[in-house]
Amino acid sequence: MPPSDHRPGTLIEGGAVFPHRHLTGIEGLEPHEITFLLDEAERWVDAAPGGPEKRLAGLTQINAFFENSTRTLLSFEIAGKRLGADVVNMHAAQSSVKKGETLIDTAMTLNAMRADVIVIRHMSSGAVRLIADKVDCPVLNAGDGRHEHPTQALLDALTIRRRLGGVANRRVVICGDLLHSRVARSNILALTALAAEVRVCAPSTLMPPAIERFGVTPFTDFDAAMEGADVVMMLRLQTERMAGGYVPSVREYHLRYGLTLDRLERRAPGALVMHPGPMNRGVEIDSAVADHVERSAITEQVAMGVAVRMACLDVLTRRRRGVEGWA
Ligand code: NCD
Repeated sequence: MPPSDHRPGTLIEGGAVFPHRHLTGIEGLEPHEITFLLDEAERWVDAAPGGPEKRLAGLTQINAFFENSTRTLLSFEIAGKRLGADVVNMHAAQSSVKKGETLIDTAMTLNAMRADVIVIRHMSSGAVRLIADKVDCPVLNAGDGRHEHPTQALLDALTIRRRLGGVANRRVVICGDLLHSRVARSNILALTALAAEVRVCAPSTLMPPAIERFGVTPFTDFDAAMEGADVVMMLRLQTERMAGGYVPSVREYHLRYGLTLDRLERRAPGALVMHPGPMNRGVEIDSAVADHVERSAITEQVAMGVAVRMACLDVLTRRRRGVEGWA
């Protein structure tokens, strides 16, 4: 963690500490800091529609999205608006990036706009950290390349916690394109920090080397991985990040790694099914599972996304808003 990110001794309600200026990843967060953000999100889950406090009134939030997104952009926009922020969206297609502007120039431009908080999605791993180091306001990572997607991991942890009563000691299987997935990386970091038992499953071509060092158990056999699972989290085949053939065919992939209702009922009948979206129905997940009323938590994940993003926007702007106890 670079020194610029660290403000030791910043007190927060309850005497806990959240010393980070930015949220660029789950990496570097202590377990109690993750729990703190989840606790903060809880208050927004049940907030009366139309009536949450306008804590960000008068602040400008820029959502700078250099890569396509539907749910994450919308979720950050709704979260900011519910808190009363002036939200501005910048899409790469309309920006100077297409004209060859460097990342540093983009950062300087965003900074000159005097935003109070910037949310960034970028196709390059590490781009968000680079921009965060160049601007004066808090920066939230909405997904950078294959690196991290911290708010996705937080919303997933919140969904598990609310559905299963906790994360610790729950057996979570993450199956799919682990090699290209920032969601997998952030989830592995968050779930292991919260003491879940994490199993990862993928064909060997899509399994990152030495993944055990993250404290997870790798499987290439999906049926074996699913045995006794409390949560099965499916990931999309990220074909846009693949150069060449990582899987023999989509049909073959579905046969070995697709979550069908039959497989779920045979291997982990009580498990909660999750997917960050967008889903490839019939590839990594069948509609019968994705739309399963009791088992699927997929729409709940989307709902939790707004609450988690409200919490992150609120917490990261407290110092700027002069909230008492936030040095
Ligand atoms: C993911 C992403 O963009 O990283 N989606 C999301 O944020 N909900 C996963 C993906 O693209 O497959």
